[in-house]
Amino acid sequence: MAMAKPHKTPRTILLLGSRGLLGNTLLPALRQTFESVRCMDRAELNLANPGQVEKVLTGVDFDLLVNAAGYTAVDDCEINERLAYLVNSDAPAILAKIAAAKGAQMVQFSTDYVFDGGAFLPYKEGDPANPISIYGKSKCAGEIGVLAADSRHLVVRLSWLFGPGRTAFPGWVLRKAVADGRVSIVSDKSASPTFAPDLANWLIALLLSDKFTGGMVHLCNSGVCTWKDYGEEVLRCAVKTGLLKEMVPVHPLKLTDLPGLTAARPLYSALDTTHFSQITGVTPRPWQDAVAEHVTYLSRLKY
Ligand SMILES: NC(=O)c1ccc[n+]([C@@H]2O[C@H](COP(=O)([O-])OP(=O)(O)OC[C@H]3O[C@@H](n4cnc5c(N)ncnc54)[C@H](OP(=O)(O)O)[C@@H]3O)[C@@H](O)[C@H]2O)c1
Repeated sequence: MAMAKPHKTPRTILLLGSRGLLGNTLLPALRQTFESVRCMDRAELNLANPGQVEKVLTGVDFDLLVNAAGYTAVDDCEINERLAYLVNSDAPAILAKIAAAKGAQMVQFSTDYVFDGGAFLPYKEGDPANPISIYGKSKCAGEIGVLAADSRHLVVRLSWLFGPGRTAFPGWVLRKAVADGRVSIVSDKSASPTFAPDLANWLIALLLSDKFTGGMVHLCNSGVCTWKDYGEEVLRCAVKTGLLKEMVPVHPLKLTDLPGLTAARPLYSALDTTHFSQITGVTPRPWQDAVAEHVTYLSRLKY
């Protein structure tokens, strides 16, 4: 007897940026849930070339456009301001208009770097943005362009993304620990880490929710930590998995001690996810649990 195919939600999705840290986790998760997911990467659709975007997408059929592409090199954005605005602001606004004209919804990803970092409590969606870097300014302009095109479009702000695929902070900490036997990490900057596989599940929960009609949503794991707390947790988990024999010393740094940072960064940019929980009934798990899962994965790979 033929096996019944698992039921998938009938949506036709176009995913941009599927080779990035977020996109490479979103792709299998979306494919598991939705009937059709097609990817277009930089070679097929260069977001730095707005004229090309309209030409390429005119003949492409989709009812949901997920844009996980972005110019994410925060310091490089200071030098390449025009490119930052093309990719992070102009292109998303054009994509949002094309999607709206097709009657399709769009998901755009944004960042905690739209805030200036002067807060003492996690930022809510309605708190005023005041970016202090070109990256933050270009992403903020992108948010505005996307939300202006259609009220059904969704902007997801996230922070300190980590997960399988491209190397992120946990992999960097482990490499430093093994190579040098000690790590120096910034201790005066705080935010909430976001585990890409968790984010994929939360996004799908939002997309499947009847209660969600569009707008801005903050998504990250629960809890707030400094970069140093985050790094120490990675190291503790690595000791538990046997990847490290023992805890290595962690030397605290100030953000201003780091050489080569051209862009200003918010010192506090934790995100409040209450709005998401109210829509979906889902509470993000603590960042420490997500780090433990990821370090177990990295240990199997020998990071
Ligand atoms: N990483 C974080 O900690 C973090 C935090 C907050 C928000 N976010 C947001 O989350 C989203 C995903 O970030 P990520 O960390 O997954 O980024 P990433 O790993 O740097 O990946 C970015 C993706 O965008 C693509 N891309 C860059 N320029 C492009 C262009 N001109 N045309 C077409 N594609 C282009 C890249 O293509 P190639 O594969 O060809 O390079 C890559 O696939 C972004 O919107 C970012 O602003 C990230």
